[in-house]
Amino acid sequence: MRNLHNIQQLHGVPVLVRAPLNIPIENNEVINDFRLRRTIPTIEFLAHAGAKVIVCGHIGRAPTETLEPVYRALAKRMPHVSFSPVAVGPTVREAVRALHSGDVLMLENLRRYPGEIKNDPEFARELASPADIFVQDAFDTAHREHSSIVGVPKFLPSYAGLLLAQEVSELTMALTPKHSAFAVIGGAKFSTKEPVLEKLLSVYDHVAVGGALANDFLVAKGYSLGVSLISGADQDSIKSLLANDRLVIPLDTVVAPPKADATASRVTSLDTVDATEAVLDSGPQTNQHLAILAQDAKTILWNGPLGRYESGFTDGTKALAQAIAASGAHSIVGGGDTIAAIEELGITENFSFISTGGGSMLAFLTKGTLPGIEALSANR
Ligand code: 3PG
Repeated sequence: MRNLHNIQQLHGVPVLVRAPLNIPIENNEVINDFRLRRTIPTIEFLAHAGAKVIVCGHIGRAPTETLEPVYRALAKRMPHVSFSPVAVGPTVREAVRALHSGDVLMLENLRRYPGEIKNDPEFARELASPADIFVQDAFDTAHREHSSIVGVPKFLPSYAGLLLAQEVSELTMALTPKHSAFAVIGGAKFSTKEPVLEKLLSVYDHVAVGGALANDFLVAKGYSLGVSLISGADQDSIKSLLANDRLVIPLDTVVAPPKADATASRVTSLDTVDATEAVLDSGPQTNQHLAILAQDAKTILWNGPLGRYESGFTDGTKALAQAIAASGAHSIVGGGDTIAAIEELGITENFSFISTGGGSMLAFLTKGTLPGIEALSANR
């Protein structure tokens, strides 16, 4: 992959940057700018070198969503930033012509255009047309075969941004960890996590499962989990993972009626979950066991919460965050709720690397590459 330092000439050159702009918005304001902060060094590098920087990206999944709040957040952190209410067409070409060296123009949400997720070559060509160079910095979306990820590099000389290059280097190292190595995968949906679990079980000494993901394993072991979220995993694959003695499953749990908040919960052993209750967080014995594994580890990799974080079941996730922060191990973490827990606790400095990827981090760990990275390697 070529990176920013390989670009010969930037002064006065229009450069299209695909950035990680998919960040949480509430009441039309950015509520967490973690991904934006991480891509700003790439935008600043290009602006300081005199490029005309055209920043593009997506927000949410509905085509009605706007990047305007993200633009305002960027404009607070950098001078000379403007916004285009469209992402392609004559208005964009005109706005780019009017840019001075070092100016930044953010384009509206790419997912307003069906051609983006369809990877329509015509849309990619249109998006690429006002620029002479393409920089990919959206590690969070590099697992998607979308126009701005795999299409645009077919039309422009393309380079990895500073964030993308750092993500690839850190996560590549995570695939050859110092031992003892401990991984934790939480969240939901067994089918999307199965490939990464298989990969990690071949590399890490202990691989713990948490969150709703762990429910599938507990049910396969014969526990009745009431009305807990179960993804209905393929029994053969789950049994083969359970047979691996590196796999760590919960020892106890926190349950509540499914719609109740955390105040209505109780700690219980795995075999006494009532038919009306759902598993919503990891229990104290489990948390203690994970903390001991963290304490003994030289490398820790973590993605995904241990409970239903968005509903206030945050104790297990926060306990794990604190245990990892205190461990002194080389720690690599990622995923929205995981980062939220670390930020809420004010312990981000205690982690070696915080990935901007959620699904893309898991996909990279599984395969060692992503479509967006392959598209850059093919462009030489
Ligand atoms: C993410 O938040 O995981 C990335 O920005 C990708 O978004 P998507 O899942 O909507 O493609």
